Amino acid sequence: SPVKVKKIVCIGAGYVGGPTCAVIAQRCPDITVTIVDINEARINAWNDKDFHLPIYEPGLEDVVKSCRGRNLFFSTDVDKAIQEADLIFVSVNTPTKKSGVGAGFAADLNYVELATRRIAAVANSNKIVVEKSTVPCRTAESMRVILEANAKPNCRFDILSNPEFLAEGTAIPDLHNPDRVLIGSLQTPEGLEACQSLADIYAHWVPRERILTVGLWSSELSKLAANAMLAQRISSINALSAICEATGSNIDEVAHAVGHDTRIGPKFLKASVGFGGSCFQKDILNLVYLSESLHLPEVAAYWRQVVEMNEYQKSRFSKRVVDTLFNTITGKHIAVLGFAFKADTGDTRESAAISLIRDFQKERANVNLYDPQVEESQIWQDLSEASPELPLETIKKQVRICSSSMQACKGAEAVVIATEWKEFKEIDWEVVYQSMNKPAFVFDGRLLVDAAKLTKIGFKVVTIGRGEL
Ligand code: UDX
Ligand code: UDX
Ligand code: ADP
Repeated sequence: SPVKVKKIVCIGAGYVGGPTCAVIAQRCPDITVTIVDINEARINAWNDKDFHLPIYEPGLEDVVKSCRGRNLFFSTDVDKAIQEADLIFVSVNTPTKKSGVGAGFAADLNYVELATRRIAAVANSNKIVVEKSTVPCRTAESMRVILEANAKPNCRFDILSNPEFLAEGTAIPDLHNPDRVLIGSLQTPEGLEACQSLADIYAHWVPRERILTVGLWSSELSKLAANAMLAQRISSINALSAICEATGSNIDEVAHAVGHDTRIGPKFLKASVGFGGSCFQKDILNLVYLSESLHLPEVAAYWRQVVEMNEYQKSRFSKRVVDTLFNTITGKHIAVLGFAFKADTGDTRESAAISLIRDFQKERANVNLYDPQVEESQIWQDLSEASPELPLETIKKQVRICSSSMQACKGAEAVVIATEWKEFKEIDWEVVYQSMNKPAFVFDGRLLVDAAKLTKIGFKVVTIGRGEL
């Protein structure tokens, strides 16, 4: 019969492992959850007495407050937590490889492998090992081989795939009320029992019919497929936004009309300056790499185009800024509002704002940047990585980090909206207009402002997916 899980360890206290396992602890008071990480600073932040947690996520603080010290613990003692647990989530980072075979496409599985080897080395009882990080198909199989080759006698490992579908910024509501929970297992009696044990955990708060159980490899592929199809919707709407700009039609109207078809649906059809985040690009490139390794070049080319369209959207937008500002932005001041890859997160991975600012720097513009959440050190790190040929001092001469949108816009010739932060909707544009150089431009990369109202104030407004008014 299935093991009743009493103790869980999560290896990796990042954007996925942290919120996911905190919610499990909150909803399962009978289970002890320990989240471990090799990064001591990160663990210290999770344990911070004033709850200055290492990631910004609305509602997360309340979850951690409700159970930290009760049945939720954060620790750097990875080995002890592994030994005590019945079930282990592996939730470490899987970035795109930077060198070697598959560089730029394949996932770097080094962290997964190291964590797996650690489990094999220290475990002295049976474990259910759950792959939570997004990984290429068949990683579970590699994990199984590593575990079995290194296991102590009488230690059984059952491997499950349980991909996470939460989106940043809405992680807590997504976890509390998921569209579905997906669990993949081997279809053996032992595999199915392990699957049952994990399903029983989620059943504390997720209706059974939303807990989907499938084969291991279907589960792994479904995660890549879901992200690829979501990203594809955005690239599709963004491709249409280019047509709208060239023809004078309006992408919002098109998206509205198209989304009314119940077969298509209204969500996730917002044209933008380009998608970002740690998952979309990485997972599609993973799928491209997988397709190529399976000798399916047409399939690879199909998915690769989704990423290429996104790159095109970002560069098309910065080119539009330069073209509109009389073909030169050298020495001009541009206020960039938003640096995170979407609203309600401090995460900047693959953020479109990074590419925009890099392009503006190449044109030797001065950038006044404001984001309500992103840490200053993160901004400098991202901008340095985007322009490796520039010393940081040079970047700091061109980019000034501001403490409000008002301050960023003051004296600028143009405002560029890169992230859809709610507070940007409440900007007093009359006041901003007075403080800017004229003619004053607003480039809306997020369909956020009321263009007609701003035009009335005197702004020249350029919006994604809209031709000249
Ligand atoms: C995504 C998936 O949504 C989630 O299910 C998966 O687990 C991880 O990857 P995330 O990257 O956190 O989540 O955020 P998401 O809301 O999907 O946004 C990704 C990017 O697409 C953002 O840059 C966002 O601004 C952009 N986007 C989203 C659009 O440009 N238009 C839209 O209509 C929706
Ligand atoms: C389509 C549109 O659905 C309709 O809104 C538009 O007005 C005209 O074009 P139609 O071509 O009549 O309608 O049929 P549809 O049901 O859309 O199917 C088109 C093709 O897609 C068929 O060959 C169908 O077999 C195929 N299809 C559809 C699939 O292969 N898989 C699916 O999931 C759905
Ligand atoms: P994600 O967005 O997938 O959650 P993050 O980078 O935010 O990724 O988090 C992954 C975490 O995993 C990092 O904090 C990293 O320090 C941690 N980590 C990586 N390898 C190990 C390991 N072998 N043992 C413990 N923690 C690890």
